[in-house]
Amino acid sequence: MNIDIVTIFPKMFDAVLNESIIKRAQAKGKVKFHIHDLRDYTLDKHRKVDDRPFGGGAGMVMRPEPIFNCVERIKSRIKNKKAKTILLCPQGKKFTHSRAKKFSKLKNLIFICGHYEGVDERVRRRLADEEVSIGDYVLTGGELPAMVLIDAIIRLIPGVLGDKNSLNFESFEGNLLEHPHYTRPANFRKMDVPGVLLSGDHNKIEAWRREESAKRTKERRPDLLQPKFGRKE
Ligand SMILES: C[S@@+](CC[C@H](N)C(=O)[O-])C[C@H]1O[C@@H](n2cnc3c(N)ncnc32)[C@H](O)[C@@H]1O
Repeated sequence: MNIDIVTIFPKMFDAVLNESIIKRAQAKGKVKFHIHDLRDYTLDKHRKVDDRPFGGGAGMVMRPEPIFNCVERIKSRIKNKKAKTILLCPQGKKFTHSRAKKFSKLKNLIFICGHYEGVDERVRRRLADEEVSIGDYVLTGGELPAMVLIDAIIRLIPGVLGDKNSLNFESFEGNLLEHPHYTRPANFRKMDVPGVLLSGDHNKIEAWRREESAKRTKERRPDLLQPKFGRKE
């Protein structure tokens, strides 16, 4: 997978993309990142990426030209291969596990990170294939949301995680939350690990896990148990 990121803060990505599983995914050749400093796509000597809003009002708006120039350059690099352009936006569709799965199957993703009051509306209208939000709150920029999407997407690419079973039995896979986990020691500060997990009986362990998973989902996220058509994604 190729991931292109359009940003005015390219350094923000250094730490996140160069640690842990995302770092290993690059080493294994599963994903390649291309980070574009939006200021490199401006044509004026001040490398201006924002301007005042038409009609007045607070804040600045990201200008369309540098974003169009940058995305068009990316698309010309990947030639006629299809790329999905995602605009990070608090007004977009909510990011979910199923959306992460859908994106993880694509070969080329382009993320546009906004700032200030957001991007000029023509970027949404003409460039963005999808607008995605990570939740109902407003952040200062699209970089952290882009990193959230990238982390959730990359771990779903086959071969990225060491044990593919970790994906099969985790929260939101199907319509359940995962069961609780315990590790050593078996007794910690007077709290015992449930006996069944120490029994060595795999059928009983599986049954306990299924039951706990159903109980948790009912308690914490009963909405997941509703039929899909009634659920907001
Ligand atoms: C301060 S926000 C702009 C908010 C905009 N004025 C509004 O009220 O909808 C600046 C940028 O941060 C990013 N952003 C902020 N919150 C986000 C969220 N919840 N999900 C995705 N992106 C977000 C977007 O790229 C956005 O263009």
